[in-house]
Amino acid sequence: MLETLALSDWNGPFDAEIKARALSALENGAVLFFPNLPFRLEESEKQFLDAGVSDGKAKNISLDHATGRMQASSLTGEKADRLAAMMERFGRQAAGLVHGLFPYRNVERARTSFRPVQVKGRSYSKISDDRLLHIDAFPSRPMRGRRILRFFANVAPAAPRHWQVGEPFEDFARAFLPRLGPHLPGKSWLYDKLGVTHGRRSRYDELMLSLHDAAKLDANFQRNSPQQAVSFPPGSCWLVFTDMVLHAALGGEFALEQTFHLDVAELAEPERAPVRVLERLSGKTLA
Ligand SMILES: [Fe+2]
Repeated sequence: MLETLALSDWNGPFDAEIKARALSALENGAVLFFPNLPFRLEESEKQFLDAGVSDGKAKNISLDHATGRMQASSLTGEKADRLAAMMERFGRQAAGLVHGLFPYRNVERARTSFRPVQVKGRSYSKISDDRLLHIDAFPSRPMRGRRILRFFANVAPAAPRHWQVGEPFEDFARAFLPRLGPHLPGKSWLYDKLGVTHGRRSRYDELMLSLHDAAKLDANFQRNSPQQAVSFPPGSCWLVFTDMVLHAALGGEFALEQTFHLDVAELAEPERAPVRVLERLSGKTLA
């Protein structure tokens, strides 16, 4: 479930043995844990370790690296620029590590986020409560089978980040698939036309959203399904396919995260991708 990689360098070249181990573990649904790879803040950036840098509305401050646009921060002017520069540097380092460690050729760097608000005290509806075990699936962003890979760094001065990691994706999907409602093709067409989604949802997207919601709404699953507590200390990083690994963020403050998207064809073992697992279990083409 947890594969520890003792790297202390963001840039390769990395050992062939380490690369092979990382690739196999990642695609098999492990969390890759980097205990010796701190993302270092500059002295002037430590002021951003403050919940007040958030606008208080969204969970995360996000940065679109293509446009340089930052959202959900209360900061303005030079301070906002400095926070954006810190997030950009983190995203660049994360991308460098992913490129150095894996054979993937086309990895799209999506949004970078900074999570400055203490996880514990938040209150949300069940569907948006990430303290409940879930796989990542986003209502407005259809993936059509593409993977969601996320790299996290705990940049808190002292507090560990606590996760709960659940059972293998296939066990989870096998239990929940029979319970899901029928596919309504008109709905994804309508959502696309209305601009609710960026592009049209595939059957895969509909299924993943249903699985995400069903897991969060099932109190018995949340309490009794196989799961393990994992603690990420300050100064550590971790990398995980969050569309496949059931996870819940229970506590912690000040994490950075970089999202990557990639096609199933990039994988060494494409048959392990959620879209292929769901196609096998349902007997249908989904994306
Ligand atoms: Fe998540």
